[in-house]
Amino acid sequence: MSKVIKNGTIVTADRTWKGDVLVKHDKIIGIGPDLHGDHEYDATGCYVMPGGIDPHTHLEMPFMGTYSADDFESGTRAALAGGTTMVVDFCLPAPGQSLLEALQMWDNKTSKACADFSFHMAITWWGEQVFNEMATIVDKGITSFKHFMAYKGALMVDDDEMYSSFQRCAALGALPLVHAENGDVVAQLQQKLLAEGNNGPEAHAYSRPPEVEGEATNRAIMIADMAGAPLYVVHVSCEQAHEAIRRARQKGMRVFGEPLVQHLTLDETEYMNKDWDHAARRVMSPPFRNKLHQDSLWAGLQAGSLQVVATDHCSFTTEQKRFGVGDFTKIPNGTGGLEDRMPVLWTRGVNTGRLTMNEFVAVTSTNIAKILNMYPKKGAIVEGADADIVVWDPKRKKTISAKNQQSVIDYNVFEGFEVTGLPRFVLSRGELVIQESSVQAQPGHGEFVAREPNAAVNRALSKWKEVVAPRKVERTGIPAGV
Ligand code: URP
Ligand code: ZN
Ligand code: ZN
Ligand code: ZN
Repeated sequence: MSKVIKNGTIVTADRTWKGDVLVKHDKIIGIGPDLHGDHEYDATGCYVMPGGIDPHTHLEMPFMGTYSADDFESGTRAALAGGTTMVVDFCLPAPGQSLLEALQMWDNKTSKACADFSFHMAITWWGEQVFNEMATIVDKGITSFKHFMAYKGALMVDDDEMYSSFQRCAALGALPLVHAENGDVVAQLQQKLLAEGNNGPEAHAYSRPPEVEGEATNRAIMIADMAGAPLYVVHVSCEQAHEAIRRARQKGMRVFGEPLVQHLTLDETEYMNKDWDHAARRVMSPPFRNKLHQDSLWAGLQAGSLQVVATDHCSFTTEQKRFGVGDFTKIPNGTGGLEDRMPVLWTRGVNTGRLTMNEFVAVTSTNIAKILNMYPKKGAIVEGADADIVVWDPKRKKTISAKNQQSVIDYNVFEGFEVTGLPRFVLSRGELVIQESSVQAQPGHGEFVAREPNAAVNRALSKWKEVVAPRKVERTGIPAGV
């Protein structure tokens, strides 16, 4: 059966034009005027865009003594409801655990995924086994490796391990990612604050100032450059980190930066709320920042020094957040946002003139597909692409509320936000999964998306590093005795 999306305006990362989109099975097979199919979806007054891709989620993630509350079923259902048709989650081996064993564990969680997904593999320890298994992981279509520079005593790796892993990434044509915060400094600041009786959620923000993020971002950039690898910095939250990325890019380094929709729209005053639950529900790393940092992130998206917008969706219930009453270091770190990323970014970005519609598509979908090397299968409205399509109604409105969200948690950090711009229809590989507020997502429909190594950026960078590699000078006049 074929389907046609009729009378809409197609918006991609580089063009806006009137046209119909014809879908057969799971692919786009035609784009043009006056197309016909067995079933028609009316897109009058709407924008037809590639489905969103969230490059950063933690579904059913074991973390800080518990598991994040949304699993692959509720998480991907939330994603689809907000126009996101693919997520990239993090596989986290325990220190000492085989990467392949961890991947099997993560794969076991995905049987009820409603939307397509891929993985980043975390490097949480280093050794010959990890070195060897990284090649097998790449062969399985996982071509990005995450490094935590924070969470000391748990997921954190040191510079030595990072440099080894980045070199391995360069050799395998893979992309290293970093969570950039100086974990040693954070650990000491946490202990100092607790010793001074500063044990509330606001102390979480005090323990992770922008400087610790800026320092770690600079360090990761330098280590990646030494190793000859590109670099992707997750959840860039502040000017210090953005400045490091901007400067590196101006020097020709291949560095990508990912702000979160939360950091773009929520600020540090959330942690000063008199209600402990309100503040704790917003505890995540890095913490929310002030308006100057937010302006820097928006400017980065406009200027192209930051390329993608994610959520880092890692949701915990209020009950889970309360593990940290009396000790902020025990509040599980993480916030939700999968259902809200696209409507909030559209409302605060496109509707204010901070982003063009094409920039919106670039940062929510196309740039991500390109950086993670799955373009144009994903992130594109072209013949042959997967039919992951959102028909976006710029006039549909709602007030965000936990009462009618897909996520299983009991609150929403965007509670009360009024958004204008929501999906009318969402297709996931050709299947209708969302029709306005009716969610028809099917558990088990989501498939793993394998990615190829050696993206264009890796190829160019390795060529360049070969050109400028240190070379021994062949000398003629050699002094005696040397
Ligand atoms: O606070 C956060 N961001 N939780 C999820 C884990 C991580 O650091 O990305
Ligand atoms: Zn069919
Ligand atoms: Zn992180
Ligand atoms: Zn994360």
